[in-house]
Amino acid sequence: MSLALWDKSDTPIQTLRAQARARQNSNHVLKLHHHAYRCDNAEETRKFYEDILGMPLVCAIVEPVDPITGAETPYAHLYFELSDGSWLAFFDFPKKYADLNASFENTDVWTHHIALEVPDEATLQAHRENLDKHGIEYMDIDHEYCKSVYFYDPNGLCVEFTHNVDETERYFHDKARDAKKDMEHWMKVRAEHYPDAS
Ligand SMILES: [Fe+2]
Repeated sequence: MSLALWDKSDTPIQTLRAQARARQNSNHVLKLHHHAYRCDNAEETRKFYEDILGMPLVCAIVEPVDPITGAETPYAHLYFELSDGSWLAFFDFPKKYADLNASFENTDVWTHHIALEVPDEATLQAHRENLDKHGIEYMDIDHEYCKSVYFYDPNGLCVEFTHNVDETERYFHDKARDAKKDMEHWMKVRAEHYPDAS
């Protein structure tokens, strides 16, 4: 499946690791700071992320004024912390979202999701059992370069928990090496399969 077009290298992993570190150190975009999304209800969202998934609510800002319109319509801005210090953020802004008739349709598990890394299969299994315990349905997908479970939070946001595997580092090294070539390949495939696409 996902590893099908991998031109696998035989360079020692320490060398690949040093190459990846050099590339990452030269990147001025550091890491995920936060991912923000609307929520239907702040407390319902807190229960899901803090009580069920174990991500502490570290900040709940109550803002009195809509920063876009200047209207005195208060809203809350929540931050749930990950182990690396980054956050998942949510806005609870009932009037605005009601006026906009805001919604996020559940189309499929990949359309819009936030992927959160866990250290290993044992941790992912513990999450599966925890989701089972809370009656939350999930889908397992083995991407071969990582293993994942997908589920929905109460707002319709798709959340993925994933862990890397032994091949992950080498796979991403080799795919970075081949990215330009792979992109050219995709654009040809795209043109063949979707001739009417813009
Ligand atoms: Fe993903």
